[in-house]
Amino acid sequence: MHTITLINGDGIGPEISKAVMEIIDAAGLKIDWDIQTAGAEVAEKEGSPLPDRVLESIKKNKIALKAPVTTPIGKGFRSVNVQLRKELELYANLRPCKNFDGIETPFKNVDLIVVRENTEDLYAGIERMVDDDTAESIKIITRKASERIAEFAFRYAVNNGRKEVCAVSKANIMKFSDGLFLECCRKIAEKYPDIQYKEILVDNLCMQLVQHPEKFDVLVLPNLYGDIVSDLTAGLTGGLGLARGANIGTDYAVFEPVHGSAPDIKGQNKANPSALLLSAVEMLKYIGEKEYADKIEKALLKTLKEGKVLTADLGGNASTDEFTAEIIKNL
Ligand code: NAI
Repeated sequence: MHTITLINGDGIGPEISKAVMEIIDAAGLKIDWDIQTAGAEVAEKEGSPLPDRVLESIKKNKIALKAPVTTPIGKGFRSVNVQLRKELELYANLRPCKNFDGIETPFKNVDLIVVRENTEDLYAGIERMVDDDTAESIKIITRKASERIAEFAFRYAVNNGRKEVCAVSKANIMKFSDGLFLECCRKIAEKYPDIQYKEILVDNLCMQLVQHPEKFDVLVLPNLYGDIVSDLTAGLTGGLGLARGANIGTDYAVFEPVHGSAPDIKGQNKANPSALLLSAVEMLKYIGEKEYADKIEKALLKTLKEGKVLTADLGGNASTDEFTAEIIKNL
């Protein structure tokens, strides 16, 4: 039996975590979930939103599934997500984006992957008030992290039958930081002559993604652009409720949806558990349980395609519980 850390998060986190555990269990796969709480309430009780016990659990089990955790905006503790990625050196953030049958969107044939650098850039958290009226955030781009993420993107392309890697930057303006990122991508590209290498500026990319998203294959981006662009791409294929993600490092991997803790619908039995479920599907593939991963993904895709029982974000009126029961019925 696999032992896996489950950070059940806050906001809608506990509701969607429960749904996902039920579905995996109904599929016949027994997992020993090591459930760990994190976030604002934990910070009040234990003095830190990400206590050592959470990190120790992941270090022991190597794999975690993570529901979203609320981060206070403009004040308070540093994002648990950012800390986790940093502490465990989860340097690659992977966000696949593909059309779902039955989910109507303005675009067809979208099948791209966002590979986002996860450890540095403006998310290094180096900020200060210079004086009362001036704030400063420092953007860190290193050769080590840029080469490592470029290597990851190209290896991903080779292992998954992809044809092209496109490096995204704003190197026309940030000539040093984004310039270094591009230099590293070019160097790694030379090692992979069978994969086509392209470059694009992030503003142009945003425009093209909302006109012809089907043109893109693997995108590799520094942290901030990756964060923003992957929400955009999530919107291309059905919204945040369906967008899966993974944070992968050399020793550990944490699978989590793209969306946040959706405090506006917390506790209302309205949340769509699909993104966490699809993240769990990626996790099952990663730990070698492909058969169960496929079975669960098929049941979800069938539920979406039939369109009879859908949560509100997908245009339906089913509750989280009803949607979960329908997926279990379709297993
Ligand atoms: P959000 O993703 O939580 O919500 C944006 C909108 O999408 C809301 O209207 C919400 O109801 C809806 N939505 C999101 N997920 C949904 C789901 N599964 N089913 C149905 N509707 C869903 O983004 P927001 O409001 O910007 O952030 C809320 C909190 O989440 C913040 O504290 C933020 O820092 C945190 N956050 C955490 C993340 C993580 O733990 N990985 C990632 C992104 C945000």
